Amino acid sequence: MRAAFRANSDNAPDPAELIEFVPSDYFARANMSDMFPRSAPLEVDLGCGEGAFLVAMATKYPDRNFLGIERLLGRVRKVCRMAVHHQLANVRLLRIETAYALRYVLPPETVSVAHVLFPDPWPKRHHQPRRLIQDGFMEALHGILVPGGELRIKTDDEPYFQWMEKVLARAKGYERLDWPEDPEYPQTNFERRFLAQGLPIYRALLRKV
Ligand SMILES: C[S@@+](CC[C@H](N)C(=O)[O-])C[C@H]1O[C@@H](n2cnc3c(N)ncnc32)[C@H](O)[C@@H]1O
Repeated sequence: MRAAFRANSDNAPDPAELIEFVPSDYFARANMSDMFPRSAPLEVDLGCGEGAFLVAMATKYPDRNFLGIERLLGRVRKVCRMAVHHQLANVRLLRIETAYALRYVLPPETVSVAHVLFPDPWPKRHHQPRRLIQDGFMEALHGILVPGGELRIKTDDEPYFQWMEKVLARAKGYERLDWPEDPEYPQTNFERRFLAQGLPIYRALLRKV
């Protein structure tokens, strides 16, 4: 039995366990009504980490649904517990590789905003194929974004940002928009650390056309 999600004395599941969305079939597109009983604009946080951003957004915008995608089990469990603690009915977590979720799990034209915040930079040249922002990512994302849907990216890593700029410039079906400093956009766990070190933050906003 998983220690963190041990059933209580009534044998009822731990509420945090119910926040995690486990697809009944990983080889079929998910049914969104299985994920969120209430239909609402969906925002996804791709690589949500320890979830400060996701929880802050879900608290701030109760009229939207938020799906955190993260591959590390410990982080998924932690964010599930945070969602329960904050009594958030509009948050679900999906433990999966982001690229797979975009290509095979999320249904077409369901996502209104995709947030990619401080993705792993993979600085070594031979690791760069592991970077999330790639041509295939942009193509798969285009399929799941609603018309007018947005991609919001932030990073502290200048070489990765330069790489992204090239990928974003050649991605078809998007327009680039200005994204001025926005104090209403919550900071992520990593962003707080980088800002505390005085590091610059690079950002990009694109809209599906
Ligand atoms: C540098 S952290 C940033 C976390 C969070 N967005 C933040 O800003 O605090 C990157 C996160 O993405 C997750 N991650 C990296 N690659 C992933 C992938 N392919 N699919 C899902 N999660 C991934 C990592 O496990 C990690 O939690």
